[in-house]
Amino acid sequence: MKSTTYPLLPLYIISSLIIIAIIIGSIYSYNRSNSLSMRIDALSSDIITLTRSLSSTTAALQATISQATSSLSLALNAQQQNVGAIQQQLGGFQSQVGSLSGSLNTLQKLAQTDPELLKKYSKVYFLNENYIPAHLSEIPLTYQYSDLKQLLIYTNVLPRLESMIDAASSSGVKLYAYSAYRSFDDQKALKNDYRIVYGAGTANSFSADQGYSEHQLGTAVDMITPGLGGVVDGFDRTNAYQWMLSNAYRYGFILSYPKNNGYFTYEPWHWRFVGVKLATELHNQGKNFYDLDQRVIDGYLVNIFD
Ligand code: DAL
Ligand code: ZN
Repeated sequence: MKSTTYPLLPLYIISSLIIIAIIIGSIYSYNRSNSLSMRIDALSSDIITLTRSLSSTTAALQATISQATSSLSLALNAQQQNVGAIQQQLGGFQSQVGSLSGSLNTLQKLAQTDPELLKKYSKVYFLNENYIPAHLSEIPLTYQYSDLKQLLIYTNVLPRLESMIDAASSSGVKLYAYSAYRSFDDQKALKNDYRIVYGAGTANSFSADQGYSEHQLGTAVDMITPGLGGVVDGFDRTNAYQWMLSNAYRYGFILSYPKNNGYFTYEPWHWRFVGVKLATELHNQGKNFYDLDQRVIDGYLVNIFD
């Protein structure tokens, strides 16, 4: 038997197989792409749903946050108002405490200040024989005109006297203390001597009776300068007196008995410490200590040693 040969048969078979494979591949690929597309569609729809739900959740969340914020801010405002009111109350308390402690300070200062120091002696007020200033100090000899007798002065007044004399000295003016504290008995003896020498009438015109002299307070001082022969008469013709008129108030001293005063003859040498505040007021207003009401003067007592 003669066998028939088909030389191209393998080629046909291979070609057919390839074609079949391509067809199967295309069908598979078509199906696959179809299912992918469906899945993408499903996914897109899921994304859209999710996005919508997310945006509605975000809106709700924002609304909740904004409500909470406004409630918090209201509460905070109310708290701030409370704090403000409490601070105001505290301020009121503090100022009350401040003014109370100021009053207490004033009372303490007054309790420690001798009420006699600003009284108008000379005629109305009287110091008995037992009155001795609470604190007296020796005036250093360099500030005294003479070293024959140790002078005493109210302790708190001493530094003012020294500063005044030092300041005058810096300006080329020589000032010295001539007489300062005199006890009741010292004044009595002095006045008796004057009575004997000048007679009672004349003595009364320039010398206080015991108990009525500012010198018993320890705050009055008679000033002198060289060139007067060791006496205070004529002090008003010196540049030392002019310096005192212009500057003594800065150290708290005033002239007790100016010309035409109603108490004693003019005493340009006799200066009394009344405190810088009162002395400055008197100097600025051109007034004299004895012209003021005692009630007005008493208002300066608390500041006498400021
Ligand atoms: N010379 C004055 C007034 C007195 O004695 O206190
Ligand atoms: Zn005097």
